[in-house]
Amino acid sequence: MHNEVEKILISQEEIEKRVQELGQQITQDYPEDTELVMVCILRGAVVFMADLARQIQRQVTFDFMDVSSYGMGTTSSGVVRILKDLEENIADRHVLIVEDIIDTGLTLKYVVEVLNTRRPASIRVVTLLDKPERRVTKEFKAQYNGFEIPDQFVVGYGLDYAQKFRNLPYIGVLKPSAYS
Ligand code: PRP
Repeated sequence: MHNEVEKILISQEEIEKRVQELGQQITQDYPEDTELVMVCILRGAVVFMADLARQIQRQVTFDFMDVSSYGMGTTSSGVVRILKDLEENIADRHVLIVEDIIDTGLTLKYVVEVLNTRRPASIRVVTLLDKPERRVTKEFKAQYNGFEIPDQFVVGYGLDYAQKFRNLPYIGVLKPSAYS
């Protein structure tokens, strides 16, 4: 697995440190009696959510949503469908959406719009990675952002290529041979 990685973009130690910082920042931003509904966008955000939740010193509950862009291309089409919806009612609750990466921004724009119709008390977004160069919508912004990265295809720490490499403990770029 590791021998298919060309370079490590963000090391395990850098991720750990940044996740800790994000957890501290989120903790400070919500009053002590806040109960947060952490919404993990499957499947890439699973690893990040598991680590981040343990750095947040507030009561949290977990919920999961699976969404998919229509079409098989590598870029988002902007049309998103819900494959798995939340189990919990989020009305009057504080929602923290947890993403692994924001690329065009279309997935999150849609998710935030849909969840806002359910009248939560608040919605914020935390993403581990952000590719600002790729953004096609200005209509939403993540409040918490781990790392800005260049427009390169990355794997690891939850992110996949063909469903593999999600368990790499770092964010890396694959060798061209890994794609063949
Ligand atoms: C990735 C990522 C975001 C979305 C971002 O999910 O987890 O949900 O793409 O792209 P966008 O900003 O261009 O909309 P992916 O469809 O790869 O699914 P996965 O998390 O299950 O790997």
